[in-house]
Order: sequence, then C-alpha cells, then structure tokens
Amino acid sequence: MAQLEQSATSGSEWWRSAVIYQIYPRSFADASGDGIGDLPGITSRLDDLKSLGIDAIWLSPFMTSPQKDAGYDVADYRDVDPLFGTLADFDAMLQAAHARGIRVIVDLVPNHSSDQHVWFQQALKAAPGSPERARYIFRDGRGENGELPPNNWESVFGGSMWERVTEADGTPGQWYLHIFDVSQPDFDWTNEEVREEFRSILRFWLDRGVDGFRVDVAHGLIKAEGLPDYTPDASADSMGGGEEDVPYWGQDGVHDIYRDWHRVLAEYDGDRALCGEAWLPTLQRTALWVRPDEMHQTFNFPYMMTAWDADALRDVIRESLDEFGRVGAPSTWVLSNHDVIRHASRLALTADSPQGDGIGPRSAGKPDPVIGLSRGRAATTLMLALPGSAYLYQGEELGLPEAMEIPDEFRQDPTWFRSNGERYGRDGCRVPLPWTASGTAFGFNDTGASWLPQPAEWARFARDAEETQPDSTLNLYRALLTERRARKLGTGTLVWEDTDASAVAFRRGDLHVIANLSDAPIELGEDVTFVIRSEPFTGTALPANTAAWFTRA
Ligand code: GLC
Repeated sequence: MAQLEQSATSGSEWWRSAVIYQIYPRSFADASGDGIGDLPGITSRLDDLKSLGIDAIWLSPFMTSPQKDAGYDVADYRDVDPLFGTLADFDAMLQAAHARGIRVIVDLVPNHSSDQHVWFQQALKAAPGSPERARYIFRDGRGENGELPPNNWESVFGGSMWERVTEADGTPGQWYLHIFDVSQPDFDWTNEEVREEFRSILRFWLDRGVDGFRVDVAHGLIKAEGLPDYTPDASADSMGGGEEDVPYWGQDGVHDIYRDWHRVLAEYDGDRALCGEAWLPTLQRTALWVRPDEMHQTFNFPYMMTAWDADALRDVIRESLDEFGRVGAPSTWVLSNHDVIRHASRLALTADSPQGDGIGPRSAGKPDPVIGLSRGRAATTLMLALPGSAYLYQGEELGLPEAMEIPDEFRQDPTWFRSNGERYGRDGCRVPLPWTASGTAFGFNDTGASWLPQPAEWARFARDAEETQPDSTLNLYRALLTERRARKLGTGTLVWEDTDASAVAFRRGDLHVIANLSDAPIELGEDVTFVIRSEPFTGTALPANTAAWFTRA
C-alpha cells in the first residue's frame, strides 16, 4: 500500500470538520400549506435536526425568484421570495438555529441572475454596447444578418447556450449567453460593477449573521477570452467533470474573485466560510479552489461520483486527503444533493446515468431498492468516519430512494423541458419529505398539497415511523453522528488497513472502519466488538454491501 497514514489538516475552524445538512427549502417542511416548503417550516423542524446531530445547515436558494429553476434564478438577491416567507422569517430561523448551536450557510448564485432581475430588464431595453448590456454577456450573432448564435456552446440543460433578443425598435437583435436555462442570463464577471454588486450582496447576508455561503456554479463565472467554439467530448459531463479545457468551466480568472470574497468574509468574526460548487476534471484542480486565501471548502464531486467499487473508492479517498492536504484545506465528503440521483438508488444503478439526468418510468437499469439502500447505508457509514467535513442531503437520513415513477405531467426541472423529455432531470431527488407515516402529505404540511407527488410507499420512510425502529436509517445516522462527535473523527489521522481486495478498511485511533463492497461476506475475526453496523447482522462476518465500526479486544 503506497501510503499508510493520512491526516486531516490542522486548524480549529468549525468548517474543517462540520457535518452540514442541506435543506432544499421547497421540499423540507411547509408551514403555509401551499405545497411548497418555507422558512417557518424549517424553523419548526430545527429540533429534529438538532436531535439528528448535525453542526450546520445549508439552505438552497429562497431569494426572490420566478422559480424557473427552483430558485437558482434569482431576481432580487436581498429579499426572500414570498413562497418561502419574509426577511423577518429568515432572521427568526437564523436566530432559532443559532440558539441551538446550528450554523447556517446560504446559497449564493453569482454566475447568472433571473431574466426578471432589474439589471437584465434594463439590459433588454438598453442599446447594444450600453453599460446596462455590459453587466451580462451580449454579443452580435454570426451569419449575414446575425441570425446565428455567436458560438456553438450548448446549455447544461440542453439546446443552445444563446438566446436572441428583440431590440427596442422591434428588430431581431443581439444574443445573450445562458449556461443554464434561457431564463438564467450569465453575468459578465469582467465587469467591475458586477463584482462590486456581489461584494455588497455578501455583506448583506453576513450582516444578518449567516455563517457562510455555498457558491453556486463557482467554476463558471469567467469565460475564455473570445468565447471560442467548443465541442464537448462524448464522455464529458455537462457540468465540467471529465474534461480539461472547457472555455466556460474552471478558467483561471475565477480565483481572483474568490480571493476578493475571502477578504470580505475575513472582515467578519466567527470563521465565516465559502464552499464552492465546482465540478472540475481532477481533484488536483479542485484543490486549487481552497488554497489558503480562497474558498474554505469545495464539494468533493469526484468522491460523490465514485461507483460502488473498492479500488476506486480507496483511490479517491487517498487522493482527496493528499490533494486537499497539500493546500492546507479539509477534504469534504458528499454522497447526495439536489442535482444527483439519491445515493440509496444511485449506488445500485445498473446503467449509466450522467449527473443530472435522473431516472424515470422509462429508464433502463433501474436499481434494486434493497441493494441500493444497503449500499447507501454502508457508504454513509464509511463516509462519516472520514476526516474532514461531510455534507448530508435532506431525506438521506431516512434512506429515501430516488422517486422514479413521477408521471411526466408533474415534472418541473428545466432539464426535462429543454431536452424534450429525453432527460428526466432532477425532480426525483427533490420530492417533499415524509415526516409522518399517516396524515396529509406525510406530515409535510396539513393541507395535503405537494409540488411534486410523494410516492405512496414513502409511509415506511416517514421520520416518525423510523424513530421507533432501532435499526432504521434515521437511528443509524444518529448513532454515526453521535460517535463521530464523541470520537472527534472529523479531525485527526486515518491509517489504512490491509484488507480483502473488495473492501475499504482503515483505522481511526482504536476504531476500525470497514465497508464490504463485494457480494460475499468477509470474516472479521473473533475479537471484534461492534460499535456500529450499517445493517443488523449476527456473528463476526461482515455481509456484502455492509459497513461497520468496531474495536478489537
Ligand atoms: C447548480 C445548482 C443547480 C442549478 C444550477 C444553475 O448546479 O446546484 O440546481 O440548476 O446550478 O443555477
């Protein structure tokens, strides 16, 4: 084995070891009863999160938005969308979280605004070449009459990355760039006015007391000079994983922006933190985001996208600790979020499903739910023993699978519409949570409304049902988080252990951690005392698709 011992970086800042729980506000808890979750709903459930044992929450966007991309299309960065409540509701939620010792991170969407943002509306009315247009990326079209888009780039959600506007005099005019939906025009980050506006937005939320930001599409803000044509490799994923030189992903110029933001956060007390959503081809490149004067964390997507394969998993963990360690940053660990198939389903898929494509009624390779849940629980058991900071996505603590049978007429993800139904998109991981096995909308609200339909079989995943079952996923997560905290597993040294080729095994102090990724049991020996098992079993042989924490006599 190449390297036996690997350590987390030192430093006492909370974000180096925190377990951060992602709340997708639309689907968490709905106090108003309109079918869409809201801030008062979150406040009402903070005790449930406290008892789970997390350190912080990250909220996906709740700012003013026409909701064309579930809030990732922001029309006013300094206000709360009425769907979710008011600024006063936000302040109350923040205060209630802080009172429970839970930190709060909010989502910041700097790559693009909504087309309803006042700046974009002004840009549409203004002339080509005007300062209003210069806040976004407007260009003349190609072709004799500018009828062709300025280049061949394709939107992440499908179709061209350009949309043509009609000028104030009614004639067909310039084109604007949108990496995502046509309703999400990209800002021009070479424009100082844009930079100043975002410094001010950061301060707006920092002044209210937030502990940090999750930065949306952090790798997209700077586009290559001249906007050269680019045709992605067939194997590349649309968000930028997999390919080295993509003219709109991971350009060097982004780092100046995050150095600037680092300085803004440093003006505040309390270790405020930035976590980047940056999909990059390698961990080496990903680590550049978290050099000491840049962001504090970045999502470890190479880890998240690793298949259920022992060699691959060992390699990605080792490389993560090496690469992040080299720049003095903690590694982060994540298995699910609102953009990917839930890991209790994804880890048992038998056909490839690229990031963001989802699974629907007609998909091939649907996962076996029993194997999926076992692997999901085992993967989390392994993850929560790793040094660094871990992200959880709401509902994974219940073992929720991807909702795979959502009928077409309920679909909401722009991916579904822009790909003409070829890609199901991300609705399947965004379905409102089941809180109670009986009751309206499984306790999501008291009216029964739900913006996406909840599968009938979700009664068995409801939080109140799992509370009372000792072996439920909820109680597994609680046990893992309690032991992780007691044993300070978020920091310290990991010692790799020699083991079966189809297992991943390491030691954290006297605690042994092992996951069995094969389809046969692995005998651990007579002297083991289990601390946590990802599934109930008797004897000392670790079943397939199972993980355990144990000590030896
Ligand atoms: C990020 C978000 C995703 C959103 C996209 C555009 O990838 O996580 O949900 O659609 O950015 O803002």
